[in-house]
Amino acid sequence: MRRRQRAGIVPRPLAAALALSIALAITIGTGRAAPPGSNVPDALTRRSGLQLARMPRAAQLYATNCQGCHGEVGSSAAEIPTLAGRVGYFTRIPEGRRYLVQVPNVALNANSDADIAALLNWLLATYSRAQLPPDFQPYTASEVGALRQARIEVATTRRRVIDALVAAGQIPSADALALPHIVLY
Ligand code: HEC
Repeated sequence: MRRRQRAGIVPRPLAAALALSIALAITIGTGRAAPPGSNVPDALTRRSGLQLARMPRAAQLYATNCQGCHGEVGSSAAEIPTLAGRVGYFTRIPEGRRYLVQVPNVALNANSDADIAALLNWLLATYSRAQLPPDFQPYTASEVGALRQARIEVATTRRRVIDALVAAGQIPSADALALPHIVLY
């Protein structure tokens, strides 16, 4: 009983010092985590004081719809295909461009066609700019609206798209988009 009472009373100067050191730790953490030019949601939220509302809308959409699986840097668990440094390859041929909209988590997403188009354009520019073709045309809402009506069998379609990318000389080999063995296709 006496012990509990004592624990509850923190002398004021000590409480102030504690609060200050916590604030300092957070500030230092933020400074290190947010590279100045970064566009990735997690860095943005830390730079903007953990406020999603201050992020561009497309980044917010990624953070709230995709990041849980694909990760803050476009790469996460082995079971989830890495988007960073790869996803842009798909846009080099029409079938690949279609595939990115028809992948289930994109096609079935509850956001509007315009939001999905903005999200995909942002995703490609943020995580895979170097893999985009020089004449890349951003997705439009009407293109997304039409493409997302189709339901694909992901494994077969993905394999077909990769074969076509290799045949068109757009990727050096299928290895450029290979998935770890833990993924079944
Ligand atoms: C619940 C986890 C999950 C969420 C949420 C999710 N994805 Fe995925 N994503 C996957 C998995 C798993 C795959 C592999 C294909 C499949 O099984 O559908 C995938 C595949 C993809 C691919 C194809 C990559 C490739 O190499 O074939 C793209 C592009 C993609 N997701 C984008 C998105 C976008 C954009 C969002 C947000 C709107 C999103 N995903 C949300 C799990 C997720």
